[in-house]
Amino acid sequence: MPISPTLDSAPRRLFVTTALPYANGSFHVGHIMEYIQADIWVRFQRMRGHEVHFVCADDAHGAPIMLKAEAEGITPQQLVARIAAERPKYLEGFHISFDNWHSTDSPENVELSQDIYRKLKAAGLIYSRPVEQFYDPVKGMFLADRYIKGECPICGARDQYGDACEVCSSVYQPTDLKNPYSTLSGAAPVLKTSDHFFFKLSDPRCTAFLREWIGDRLQSQVANKAREWLDGEGEKALGDWDISRDAPYFGIPIPDAPGKYFYVWLDAPVGYLASFRNYCAKKGIDFDAFLADPRSEQIHFIGKDIIYFHTLFWPAMLKFAGYKVPDNVYVHGFITVSGEKMSKSRGTGISPLRYLDIGMNPEWLRYYIAAKLNANVEDVDFNPDDFVARVNSDLVGKYVNIASRCAGFIAKRFNGRLLGHQEGSAIIAEMQDAAGSIRGLFEAREFAKALREIMLLADKANVFVDLKKPWEVAKTGQPADLHRTCTDALQMFRLLTIFLKPVLPMLAASVEKFLNIGPLAWADAGALLPAEHRINAYSHLMTRVDPRLLDALFESDKEAPQVNTKETSSTPHPATPAKSGVPVAHAAAEGHLTISIDDFAKIDLRIARIVRAEYVDGADKLLRLTLDLGALGARQVFAGIKSAYDPASLEGRLTVVVANLAPRKMRFGLSEGMVLAASLEPGSAKGGDAPGLYLLVPDSGAQPGMRVK
Ligand code: MSP
Ligand code: ZN
Repeated sequence: MPISPTLDSAPRRLFVTTALPYANGSFHVGHIMEYIQADIWVRFQRMRGHEVHFVCADDAHGAPIMLKAEAEGITPQQLVARIAAERPKYLEGFHISFDNWHSTDSPENVELSQDIYRKLKAAGLIYSRPVEQFYDPVKGMFLADRYIKGECPICGARDQYGDACEVCSSVYQPTDLKNPYSTLSGAAPVLKTSDHFFFKLSDPRCTAFLREWIGDRLQSQVANKAREWLDGEGEKALGDWDISRDAPYFGIPIPDAPGKYFYVWLDAPVGYLASFRNYCAKKGIDFDAFLADPRSEQIHFIGKDIIYFHTLFWPAMLKFAGYKVPDNVYVHGFITVSGEKMSKSRGTGISPLRYLDIGMNPEWLRYYIAAKLNANVEDVDFNPDDFVARVNSDLVGKYVNIASRCAGFIAKRFNGRLLGHQEGSAIIAEMQDAAGSIRGLFEAREFAKALREIMLLADKANVFVDLKKPWEVAKTGQPADLHRTCTDALQMFRLLTIFLKPVLPMLAASVEKFLNIGPLAWADAGALLPAEHRINAYSHLMTRVDPRLLDALFESDKEAPQVNTKETSSTPHPATPAKSGVPVAHAAAEGHLTISIDDFAKIDLRIARIVRAEYVDGADKLLRLTLDLGALGARQVFAGIKSAYDPASLEGRLTVVVANLAPRKMRFGLSEGMVLAASLEPGSAKGGDAPGLYLLVPDSGAQPGMRVK
């Protein structure tokens, strides 16, 4: 990492992370907002010449991922790999500059988590005790509260969750429910006891350390919360932390404790270190030496819902395992859309992929989010009208406008050459002076204030151009005056570009090309373009937001508007502009992942008659089906429907099969397709009440071999 020779403070060594997203779903706009915030800060630090290592990873472990994979008939590793494979589209799409992306399901994380655990144990901070919990005798697993429903003990309402009643709002324990059932199998859960491991957070060593660690390093709202938890009394007293889960569980085995795994929240933050170590190995950086260097800073960007884990457990775990403790945790609020909380299950909110797919410029969103972010834990609202107004008036109307009004004259009248700088331009001097305060605002994550200050400067530059009227001088005035005005305006434009570069990295790159200069660093605000500097031809830097794009973003039923692809792509970004008039697929409820009609057309769905259905020796979930696909012939398929169907009852029935699935060699033979069945989504306990599996059946008249589309 090159260190800028013009650095005006001691070089910092920064290890920066964002929260590790659960790997059971696609990114939503909340993730993107967090990454944009951290990325702006990181890019700013890099522009300052500091050493920055910015990493993240998939949070792969836990019961929801295990159950979701099971429901799809794949391994958790396959599920995680599939989600991981789609990450780059989003990250590159929004110009998030992570240096490394890794996974908590990795050798580095196993080693680090087990090492931390062993050291905590040696420090006397781990103990075990029996815990009584609901157990699903059919699934053969302990049930987290969200997988238990039953009748409210107070009002008797049916199908209520284990913690609170949605009808009468009473709060209770899962064991209070009447007629409880497992949402995974429908079975009545039984109480069962098992030994759990605990981390002794309430140990006076931990609480004393945490009080000292909190000190005055955290945002005041965050420090207050953390102290409230630390100082709680009676019912609210700080409890110890249950860090183990029983098999079956997708997680990291606890050393010397067969059948026990770390609870996902133990190994998740360790994933920060795992990703960093993985990156260090690739880059030849000494991981241990970095963490041991007192100059190194470790900074975590997170959302307000996970403060507890990051300000209590995580620093305490690190401290008593002898690791470096975090230097800071920067907490942001949630993004809401038109004042509404996003809901993954209802599919509201903004789909980041749809945003890119319909050709919206990612830097519009970066700018808009930055313009609303401050250093407090406040929610940020995405308001479509405000978005259009902000981007159009600030970015296009104020900033880009300066260059677009002056660049042409330099090219056409002065051969692309600038005049030398003439002392006395008050606005240029003011801009150079402002570099210090704007720098302080970026450093403090007061992005809204920084952008306000930058836009005030842009206003002044525009007033300057308005007064000088280069378009009139060009017709009737002195060429020297025209040259002076346009040179000054471009000097101002360059300074504004330095200030905006952390937020708008691609736009800044286009400006660097247009101005014919190398990558701008923060310290470059101290100098100006020299006399005779030759700029390149100007091409339009950013288009206005067409408000119809916002309609398209939110109304997935409507067709995307026609986007002038040529204009949109003048700012280089990898988004695929929408083909005019081509409808964009519905946002899928979960994670808003969309596919095109072409993607869907790749799946060859066919009507099949089940000719034979039989039990398979040694398989406890599968039936072997022999299918007739009409013209496509006969197929053998293994289907995981044994729990729901008696084979004899299936023979002769019609169903739907994926006919072009790559054949899979299984222990029992070759499976040449997949039959479709409906079932409860285990990840989302709200999937329905009736447990079980339901094979798809076509309406009468359908014949084997018919295409389903
Ligand atoms: N896997 C845990 C974090 C483990 S960190 C060691 C997790 N994952 S998450 O996918 O649910 O959330 C990841 C990040 O996104 C968190 O920082 C969370 O606060 C943030 N956000 C989730 N919804 C959000 C909004 N609506 N707005 C802004 N950020 C939000 O928690
Ligand atoms: Zn009730």
